[in-house]
Amino acid sequence: MSEPKKLYIKTYGCQMNVYDSERMAEALGGAGYVETATPDDADMILLNTCHIREKAAEKIYSELGRFRGLKTARPDLTIGVAGCVAQAEGEEIMRRQPMVDLVVGPQSYHRLPELEAKARSGEKALDTDFPAEDKFEHMPARPKAKRAPTAFLTVQEGCDKFCAFCVVPYTRGAEVSRPAARVLAEARDLVERGVREITLLGQNVNAYHGASDGGDWSLARLVRELARVDGLDRIRYTTSHPNDMEDDLIAAHGDEPKLMPYLHLPVQAGSDRILKAMNRKHTAEQYIRLIERIRAARPDILISGDFIVGFPGETDADFADTMALIRQVGYGTAYSFKYSARPGTPAAEKALVDPQVADARLQELQALLAEQQRATQESMVGRDVSVLFEKPGRQPGQMVGKSDYLHAVHVADDTIAKGDIRRVRITRSGTNSLAGTLVG
Ligand code: SAH
Ligand code: SF4
Ligand code: F3S
Repeated sequence: MSEPKKLYIKTYGCQMNVYDSERMAEALGGAGYVETATPDDADMILLNTCHIREKAAEKIYSELGRFRGLKTARPDLTIGVAGCVAQAEGEEIMRRQPMVDLVVGPQSYHRLPELEAKARSGEKALDTDFPAEDKFEHMPARPKAKRAPTAFLTVQEGCDKFCAFCVVPYTRGAEVSRPAARVLAEARDLVERGVREITLLGQNVNAYHGASDGGDWSLARLVRELARVDGLDRIRYTTSHPNDMEDDLIAAHGDEPKLMPYLHLPVQAGSDRILKAMNRKHTAEQYIRLIERIRAARPDILISGDFIVGFPGETDADFADTMALIRQVGYGTAYSFKYSARPGTPAAEKALVDPQVADARLQELQALLAEQQRATQESMVGRDVSVLFEKPGRQPGQMVGKSDYLHAVHVADDTIAKGDIRRVRITRSGTNSLAGTLVG
């Protein structure tokens, strides 16, 4: 038997890229590759990239530059670029970095083995089509090996919302849901391999409408069906759009114990004028009422969000509205970004806010969000939570896991094994994690 070839994959961007990288590694496994942790001895280097902000996209070119030495020393090394930069700038990548052999967009991953063979034969391989067939139906069956207790599972991909700032509808294409039966089968497989928590992924995951024998399934229906899978103890989903937050999903948060009390529900801004310019198609008030309904169903739910500051035309008054919304909602955690103009998006045509003003606003907003995060963590002290333990902590005898609310929790106790779910009393809140002791 010939030596297996070595594959080095580096993943940027969102959780969907993490899932895709796993699937790509599995597909290339069929072509004789095993993963390696360093690029130095790799036969193939694959960057799975993100195009969401300018910095993320530009980083890929400098990253590629660092592999020039390796490619010169070993011309038969295959260098590939996948993900959203590949989709958006495929030809430009090949032009700016001639050492790149292969470019593959997110909807063509099932063609990766063919593309790899083409690149290996010395030809350039580029595929940024949006093929009619579903890539997941054409990817190899997943291996049966034991795996970590938590997993991502893509159920929906692409976006039809066209927020004025966002590249995702262009890089991932139109919204498509995977059939419910396929999702359930994959989930059962994951559980057999030791998975106890699954996070369902989609750019607009709550817009899920998977075809099934019984018609179209909503995300709520899918969650309820997954909850019946023995051995699957926790279900999460991300990312949701406020306008797709239907009543049945809100109800599931109230009465489905396996659905975890954590919801990432981005609003981006708190000013109606800016929300309109962003094409978000809802007002600040509608979002706040929605949060109230979700909290009525599940009072302890932890809300997380995304914010963009310095969107074109944002005034001090608009920014004050965003700060007011944050105070009113109270976020357990949140991600915030300075607006980045993305080529091809409608907002990119508009004049930028003074970068110094945008920087100052971002700082002010992040200080408020950090304070809310700290207060939320502090409020956990003295409470009992369930923790799914994932790996050893830094100190001897310590294990780290995630609470139902997705806080990292450290516990020093040598009776805890990886994959255990245990009740933990929180005793201390640190900067980015909690600590506690086992209950009972
Ligand atoms: N589908 C998700 C998020 C997609 S991108 C949603 O609808 O919310 C993740 C986050 O990146 C977005 O929520 C937004 O806050 C941020 N983002 C997207 N485009 C951006 C841009 N051009 N500049 C700055 N931040 C951006
Ligand atoms: Fe981008 Fe808006 Fe679609 Fe989210 S909903 S992926 S922010 S266009
Ligand atoms: Fe980035 Fe593409 Fe995800 S642009 S955030 S990797 S969908």
